[in-house]
Amino acid sequence: MASLIKTAAVAVAMRKCPFLSNEVLSFALKSRSLSMFAKKCPVMSKLMTQGVVTLPATYDLKGENEAGPEEELKLPTLTKLEAPTQKNEAQPLPPKYDSILNDNIEAKKRDSTYRTFQVLSRTAEKKPYAMARTTPLQLEDEDVSVWCSNDYLGMSSHPKVTGAVIDTINRHGVGAGGTRSIGGTSHYHVELEDTLADLHGKDSALLFSSCYVANDTTLQTLGRVLNAEIYSDQGNHASMIAGINNSRMPKFVFRHNDLDHLEELLAKGDPDRMKIVAFESVYSMTGTIAPIEELCDLAHKYNALTFVDEVHAVGLYGYHGAGLAEERGMAHKIDIVSGTLGKSYGLVGGYIASTGPLIDVVRSLGSGLIFTTSIPPSTAAGAVTSINILAQQEGRELRLRHRAAYNLLRVKLLKAGFPVLDCPSHIVPLHIGDALKATLCMDTLLEKHKLYVQAINYPTVPRGRELLRFVATPYHTPRMMDYLISALDDVWSNLDLPKCENFSLKN
Ligand SMILES: Cc1ncc(COP(=O)(O)O)c(C=O)c1O
Repeated sequence: MASLIKTAAVAVAMRKCPFLSNEVLSFALKSRSLSMFAKKCPVMSKLMTQGVVTLPATYDLKGENEAGPEEELKLPTLTKLEAPTQKNEAQPLPPKYDSILNDNIEAKKRDSTYRTFQVLSRTAEKKPYAMARTTPLQLEDEDVSVWCSNDYLGMSSHPKVTGAVIDTINRHGVGAGGTRSIGGTSHYHVELEDTLADLHGKDSALLFSSCYVANDTTLQTLGRVLNAEIYSDQGNHASMIAGINNSRMPKFVFRHNDLDHLEELLAKGDPDRMKIVAFESVYSMTGTIAPIEELCDLAHKYNALTFVDEVHAVGLYGYHGAGLAEERGMAHKIDIVSGTLGKSYGLVGGYIASTGPLIDVVRSLGSGLIFTTSIPPSTAAGAVTSINILAQQEGRELRLRHRAAYNLLRVKLLKAGFPVLDCPSHIVPLHIGDALKATLCMDTLLEKHKLYVQAINYPTVPRGRELLRFVATPYHTPRMMDYLISALDDVWSNLDLPKCENFSLKN
């Protein structure tokens, strides 16, 4: 039916053509090739380019428009059309299993490291606020301001980014429909990988469903392929540790940012074996920054490759937002860089960028890439838009405002005597040193003061290093900061937490 309507509409449009005789028109109608005629006709094609005549989309898709009656699809005989009489009740596990699981949960509750998720819907309407309820869907006085989101620059609700996502969903649907090698590679994926390679000044880039998967897959695959020894900073993220362990290659952990210790370990390594040195540029919980140049030089002195996670730096540092290595003019010293699309860029997904052969090896052998559905085309389109915005003047201005915001927050907290960990990055960690107190701080700030900052407990940080991790975005105002500090004052005195003039804790 739809195709009949289309054909009739084309026929009406085609009657405007002074060269088309009735016979040709009726032949074209019979052979269903009207739009082909229209495209070839000098008058119609011109009218079409000028937008005077628009033809409904007609396609000569192979196998779609074959002549002759279509064979009927025979539905299989369904034996069970009725709904089941009983609801499928959830069954408990056998008691032996349940008791082990419950013991583990109890242990987490006993040491206050049991995790609960704060259910908050961040709003695009007024950053950095979030709704604590599902209805009504608009901001109210009781809603909370968010102080710990990794959507550092608010790109997840940038109108151009959301516009690109929505437009691509309308054109291509919501899912990629397959793994990268089985139907899940669209033009958007290719464009995004080209954009990322360009951003980092590398030959190639490779997308993953997250940077956790990117780090795990890359270190695991490369470690095995190169039969390499892997040297890992003590503060490295769980995803790198997983990749290194999964490679089953010899692993050497050096003290956080400690060049002497790394050199000591490298010197003891097998001189005939390949080596990889893995570290982060910005450490996400404590806010420390790696001596990128020195670490790279040291690794290269021992012929090791450098793998650098720039997850908390891409979008935020460097002229084009390519990360801390770009800001320091060191990007060329990094052999493999990994990054996320889920933090500054505001979407989801991860990637690595490196040389052509290295990317080709991970693409061809990495199971975390091969055996999983690729990110949706809409996410890829949104990411290209976000990366391009942050690579240009708008991005540079956002970065400046971001910097001004987190510097001011740090100064205000220090002036008020709060124990802010000393660090040079955009993270503002407040030392608590006790899991229960960190959780109580978080709960009181949320319930009483409508401020959300997540307590960071073991295993994300070592025991005794529990903290509140503050993130200020360009949308946090000085007035909001003053309110936060008065709320913290209240919580601090209620929990009897110490203030200090000159707080110092080796980070
Ligand atoms: C340092 C670091 N690397 C990797 C990841 C994983 O990134 P993604 O969220 O894209 O999986 C995180 C995430 O939270 C991280 O903090």
